[in-house]
Amino acid sequence: MIEARNLTKRYEDGILALDALNLTVNPGELYCLLGANGAGKTTTLNLFLNFIQPTLGYALINGIDVAQNPLAAKENVAYLSENVCLYNNFSARQNLEYFATLSGQDGRGRQGYHGILRGVGLPERCFEQKIKEFSKGMRQKLGIAICMLKDTPALILDEPMSGLDPQASADVMEILMELRDNNKAILMSTHDIFRAKEMADRVGIMKEGRKVIERTRDDLKFENLERLYLDYMRGESTVVLPDEDALGADSRRASSTFYTASARTKFV
Ligand SMILES: Nc1ncnc2c1ncn2[C@@H]1O[C@H](COP(=O)(O)OP(=O)(O)OP(=O)(O)O)[C@@H](O)[C@H]1O
Ligand SMILES: [Mg+2]
Repeated sequence: MIEARNLTKRYEDGILALDALNLTVNPGELYCLLGANGAGKTTTLNLFLNFIQPTLGYALINGIDVAQNPLAAKENVAYLSENVCLYNNFSARQNLEYFATLSGQDGRGRQGYHGILRGVGLPERCFEQKIKEFSKGMRQKLGIAICMLKDTPALILDEPMSGLDPQASADVMEILMELRDNNKAILMSTHDIFRAKEMADRVGIMKEGRKVIERTRDDLKFENLERLYLDYMRGESTVVLPDEDALGADSRRASSTFYTASARTKFV
């Protein structure tokens, strides 16, 4: 399970990038975070990966507080960044083997690694090909294969379909849905409203560091996600305040927090 409780991040320069976020991604659920550039999506994901420290609140992976127990939390989560960092002079299989060795998951043998590469839909002829010759979509698929090595209960992906052609994007979507069906809890950011509607069990729209709405797959049978998104971005809808219990539930990391009725947050 992936859970944010009152999760807040104010960067050192004073920018309030994330403001009292509450969300839950259960095992077997795929959650898509949408929102304009600068809305706080990557900040949220980075907090779950302990790349940055929260100002207030908790990021939990399988019930483990990421800030308190980063190593234990990391054992339960795999991550794919927008621009996968891979070794260009290694083949796809060698990259996989390298990352497997790093995380103590090696020893599968060539055929074992080929099996994983097959699982993410890379064509057989690419398995032993140097990845400097790979397209962006092929690199993303290899990135997902690396994520799958650890077989963690939680997966976090930052714009995994960004820049992919429609076929590659559909392939990646299918792989993620399969992982979801295998009981993984998946949290990803995307700008692709249509794919989000198609694949997500739950969608959260972020604006200026706040989750302004959340909808389930069932809700979206009756609502137009694109319309909702555009309305919120234009500011034509009312901002939803985070739930009262979550507010004030935690004052562990910030000295004090003050929430105004106008739904803007100020730190005092
Ligand atoms: N390291 C940092 N230091 C200071 N401010 C930052 C830092 N990283 C991000 N920000 C600011 O935090 C806010 C949220 O940024 P974030 O990267 O989380 O947005 P995003 O929703 O992922 O956007 P995009 O869709 O462009 O990827 C922005 O105002 C950004 O300028
Ligand atoms: Mg981002």
